[in-house]
Amino acid sequence: MSEPIQPPADLLDRLVSLGKQRGFFFQSSEIYGGINALYDFGPLGTRIRRNIRSRWWRSIVELRDDVEGIESSIIMNPQVWVASGHVAGFSDPLVDCTGSCRKRWREDHLAAERIARGKHPDAPGCPECGGPLTGARQFNLMFRTFLGPVEDSSAQVYLRPETAQGMFVDFRSVLTSSRQRIPFGIAQNGKSFRNEISPGNSIFRMREFEMMELEFFCKPGTDEEWYDHWRSARFSWYTEELGIRRERLRLRDHDHEELSHYAKAATDVEYLFPFGWGELEGIANRTDFDLSAHQKASGADLSYLDPVTGERYVPYVIEPSVGVDRIMLIVLLDAYDEEMVRGEKRVVLRMHPDVAPVQVAVLPLSKKEELCVRARDLEHRLRPHFATEYDETQSIGRRYRRQDEIGTPLAVTVDFESLQDDAVTIRERDGMTQVRVPISGLEEALRDQLALFRQRTAARACGAAPAGP
Ligand code: GAP
Repeated sequence: MSEPIQPPADLLDRLVSLGKQRGFFFQSSEIYGGINALYDFGPLGTRIRRNIRSRWWRSIVELRDDVEGIESSIIMNPQVWVASGHVAGFSDPLVDCTGSCRKRWREDHLAAERIARGKHPDAPGCPECGGPLTGARQFNLMFRTFLGPVEDSSAQVYLRPETAQGMFVDFRSVLTSSRQRIPFGIAQNGKSFRNEISPGNSIFRMREFEMMELEFFCKPGTDEEWYDHWRSARFSWYTEELGIRRERLRLRDHDHEELSHYAKAATDVEYLFPFGWGELEGIANRTDFDLSAHQKASGADLSYLDPVTGERYVPYVIEPSVGVDRIMLIVLLDAYDEEMVRGEKRVVLRMHPDVAPVQVAVLPLSKKEELCVRARDLEHRLRPHFATEYDETQSIGRRYRRQDEIGTPLAVTVDFESLQDDAVTIRERDGMTQVRVPISGLEEALRDQLALFRQRTAARACGAAPAGP
């Protein structure tokens, strides 16, 4: 396979500006000047995220017999984080600049930060101002707060830095209440918090983010097989379910030095971001580390008795773990395209039709009352079947451009002829071609066209078709 072409370095900036303009995502508390590494998601961004979550949930939980979904609390008994190793070891090496900029850096990110500023990776001193740096000290990434009115050390609790521990400590109750047998998994999706030293690249690394994690429990000795299963299942999910270009994805196995303290093997699904290859999802063989640690610390029996063989063991765990925000970022980056149409730049998000925030836009040709009434009525009738939007503002050309920019695959236009012939025009996003269809067959025609979009997106994801129509 030929080398993939890295997206241009300024693509992230263009996307951030489109994201703000169209309400995908923007800085949290913006009217107060924002707050570092925290983001809000606007109406369209929220729709995209719901689509991502539900596609993940469907493939991990709903379409399987052997995975149960849960929702555990964000604040847990602090002993959980002692047993899991987070209190002692969930830290990054922090260095301070004592020169003019006084910035703080992650020691292991210094080389990348220098490169990002056009410097040699081994250049001495601070990446920003070149000033002297202190030695590294370990900085724990967990946010701390207090439970109840007394702010002393006995009331100190943590905001979870991963959702995984909720599934380990709930293992026994899920096992007994669901009547599952090994092998089976527990999945959940929810917010996590990390006081990252060097967040950045927009929503790539934030301090509050959303995870989707699966802990898949299996018999020791079968763990390598399950690891291989999840490694390949999760990789193909991106091309098949989200239409992400295969050439911009790769699997990268961790070498021994890189492995987390709990892992026997780990691999990252990586995406080719405008700033280079970066982690999208991690898949780890966590062995029996977590269940054994919680069993020891809590005194609860977290072993499993095989009802057929009578064997008792502490299950091993395979964990695919990913952030909703990172998926959202690659969905947008992968879809972003610019082209010249009749001398004007057209920005178009060639997004998978099931992830796009709007699938069908209904647009009256002009603001004439009779057209608007008809179009509004049509949009209401389509609403139960598709993600729809009605828009009567601005000229029809500008409304098409806006729909292209938010990735809407299909636009239905109601014009004056529609009032006579009960037909409307469907315009598709990628090739901008138009067809006239009777309103009586509109729903079916839209379904057919969305099916074509799915096929085309899948072909593009595998490299079998060009980015365009
Ligand atoms: N339970 C395993 C775990 O937490 P991780 O590699 O630290 O593993 C898993 O995180 C995934 O969560 C990452 O691959 C990434 O998608 C997402 N993630 C981690 N830290 C993040 C951050 N600060 N901002 C956004 N997403 C993050």
